[in-house]
Amino acid sequence: MINHTDTSVVTIDRFIIEQEALFPEATGELSSILYEMAVAAKMISSKVRRAGLIDILGAAGSENVQGEHQQKLDVIANAIITKAMDHGGKLCAMASEEEEGIIEIPPQFKCGKYVLLFDPLDGSSNIDVNVPVGTIFSVLRRVTPGPGRGALEDMLQPGLQQVAAGYVIYGSSTMLVYTTGHGAHGFTLDPSIGEFLLSHPHIRTPEVGKYLSVNDSYEQHWSEPVRALMRRYRGLDQRREAMNVRYVGSLVADFHRNLLGGGIFVYPANRKSPSGKLRLLYECNPLAFICEQAGGAASNGQERLMEVVPTELHQRSPLYIGSKQDVAIAIQMLEDER
Ligand code: AHG
Ligand code: MN
Ligand code: MN
Repeated sequence: MINHTDTSVVTIDRFIIEQEALFPEATGELSSILYEMAVAAKMISSKVRRAGLIDILGAAGSENVQGEHQQKLDVIANAIITKAMDHGGKLCAMASEEEEGIIEIPPQFKCGKYVLLFDPLDGSSNIDVNVPVGTIFSVLRRVTPGPGRGALEDMLQPGLQQVAAGYVIYGSSTMLVYTTGHGAHGFTLDPSIGEFLLSHPHIRTPEVGKYLSVNDSYEQHWSEPVRALMRRYRGLDQRREAMNVRYVGSLVADFHRNLLGGGIFVYPANRKSPSGKLRLLYECNPLAFICEQAGGAASNGQERLMEVVPTELHQRSPLYIGSKQDVAIAIQMLEDER
């Protein structure tokens, strides 16, 4: 572990190099994926910051594979990441929440040993009302033999196989948080120099949280154990202190607040959406990796999220993520559903 002093200026590039040096077997390929993601994040950030000024507000008039209304910035962010990442020679395929199938590496570029999965713009319905949005990404090592193009099999791996994961929050500041399995670290974009600077090394989330993030308009569709769990979190059964409810409606923003302040984000299965809403590969797994690295936990209500073996690219999953003891309560109270 490298200890920087309060006066060290640690750019994300420096941090990645120093982390890499701790692992003599590292080839630098993962590092270059992270650099490129940081560049893509800066490009998306600049678009998000100008969203109210140029004509990129509103819906693009198309729908994504899940029939959801695509916002223009969804399309733009998706293109930025695809173009920033397709030519580095480190990836053999990509997959995005916004595209039905695998995104292939164009034939003129070399293929590498990793795959990248991403949600280019999370919380996109919040764009028009100036509420924080985000980007989420996950990196896996391919399982099919190289050196050619990757396949679906390379994507459908449990979260435990992730070699890196991260998110970017375009909030009052733009921050990038990532992990390669050696802690979760946060960087804040200094817009005056265009660099992500280390601001939150070794993030630790509190064991018990104070925030509850849930959309309780679905209460009528929840099972009885889920309703009882929510009553517990609100202190209504007198078994714990009431949590403060905070729900932005951008997963990244809700997750980020809870990661730093302590809390749980919950998106249960309900009668209308039997697997919940959030996507296992683009949203749940990368955040689960970061959360565990920060001392938290993530479950689908039945099993540790990162142990789930995916069967589909756009698979959805219920999500209980955040402070360890609060997730443990969910697992215990949802036992009856098993
Ligand atoms: P996306 O914009 O990538 O489709 O994700 C939206 C997600 C997530 O960010 C948020 O937590 C959730 O949808 C909110 O859903 P509800 O409106 O059903 O609460
Ligand atoms: Mn999303
Ligand atoms: Mn999205």
